[in-house]
Amino acid sequence: MLAATGMLATLGWRDLLPAAEPEDFPFQHGVASGDPLPDRVILWTRVTPQQATDEPSVRWFIARDSRLTQIVARGEVRATALRDHTIKIDATGLEPGTTYYYGFETRGARSAMGRTKTLPAGTVRHARLAFASCANLPAGFFNAYACVAQREDIDAVLHLGDYLYEFGNGVYGDGRRIARIPSPNREIVSLADYRTRHAQYKRDADLQAAHRQHPFVCIWDDHEIANDTWRDGASNHDPEQDEGEWWLRRRSAIRAYLEWMPIRERAAPEEDRIYRRLPFGDLADLMLLDTRLLDPARSLLGAEQEQWLDGQLRRSQARGARWRILSQQVMLAPLSADGGRSVLNLDQWDGYPAARQRLYRNLRDANIDNLVVLPGDAHASFAADLDATTGVEFVTPAISSPGIEDESEAVQLTQRLQRGSPHLQYIDLHRQGYGVLDLTPDRALGEIWHLETVASSSRTQWLAAAFACEAGSHRLQRS
Ligand SMILES: [Fe+2]
Repeated sequence: MLAATGMLATLGWRDLLPAAEPEDFPFQHGVASGDPLPDRVILWTRVTPQQATDEPSVRWFIARDSRLTQIVARGEVRATALRDHTIKIDATGLEPGTTYYYGFETRGARSAMGRTKTLPAGTVRHARLAFASCANLPAGFFNAYACVAQREDIDAVLHLGDYLYEFGNGVYGDGRRIARIPSPNREIVSLADYRTRHAQYKRDADLQAAHRQHPFVCIWDDHEIANDTWRDGASNHDPEQDEGEWWLRRRSAIRAYLEWMPIRERAAPEEDRIYRRLPFGDLADLMLLDTRLLDPARSLLGAEQEQWLDGQLRRSQARGARWRILSQQVMLAPLSADGGRSVLNLDQWDGYPAARQRLYRNLRDANIDNLVVLPGDAHASFAADLDATTGVEFVTPAISSPGIEDESEAVQLTQRLQRGSPHLQYIDLHRQGYGVLDLTPDRALGEIWHLETVASSSRTQWLAAAFACEAGSHRLQRS
């Protein structure tokens, strides 16, 4: 461990943003950390260059304490135009289950100080994760991020996709009344467009606060690229409408995502493979999937990922991890308003019944137990039993995207869903918010937190539902 010396010790780093950002403040997009492992974590920031061609040198550090008396790693990197002046460091040599503080410096200015935490290792008695998805800037304020930022009780934030939306104003949400107009104000198609949109989202104070306080573990859904994306196209992509070649748009979207998100990257040609596993000691394995981009035949996961998942589930069970957490984009439990005769949303696993059967069969064949599924995408809250032999599912409401906006309409559809769907133990189709998953060796507890509003900046939230699944039971119980 290095002692804090020289510059860092004398600067007196503050853990809050400066009261007023000077106009040429280099760190206007905040700081972020992500993909923690027991010995490392990704650190991220972006430098706003004075000239587009500037490639300033940036100093970074990570320390055990916010007073910076115990700096454990530091270095210097260049913010290059090639990566849109974003910086990503994989800080290694860290201790498991430990809180760290980090920051950046360039042009004599200091970034806000970020806080992060490594994953635990060995015998783990407790883990607590927030999970969220679907932050649509013109649709409302990111109050969910503000509430998550205030929490002192979570280890990390799982972001299950739709971190941003690709539309111009008015297509999906009208931000005029709340001064949240998408930038650029048109559908994003080019690399410059995607970068500009990411930059705009990263200027949101609530989003910055959430990133500053907790490490994020992120997977994309479709809107980070274009609505209803699959490998070779998207429903919201039309080459005839001046939107260019699909492969180029897809590549631009992925490139900007990797530049701007605190995600650990793979070397080409595997840079678009985001499925991965994060271990929480003997308590859990977190498996993150990509149900959107990988398979040309639209089999949801694709053969390669399906095989990977099957292997990971078996290994997790064999190594004795108590829980298997499956984080992915779309809901696994069936959703039907007429007792199963028809399904509501073909984009989720309901649209891929053969793939779901294969997953269930693999789970049964390998005696996989204690599975908790966490999808995004739904813009609604659910707590669901999956199957007597598999596990349970908690569905997070959206951060700001609308659910069913008319409350009485939402109640009516809820009643239709409840009829003939005893596996859906909790349904709310109206409110925004986020979820919290609390794990101990004995039980998985899912909490749904709802917000009072997203129409104005607000911190009012409440615990709308809490359901626990005892280890081995595969059934939710209201708690
Ligand atoms: Fe969404």
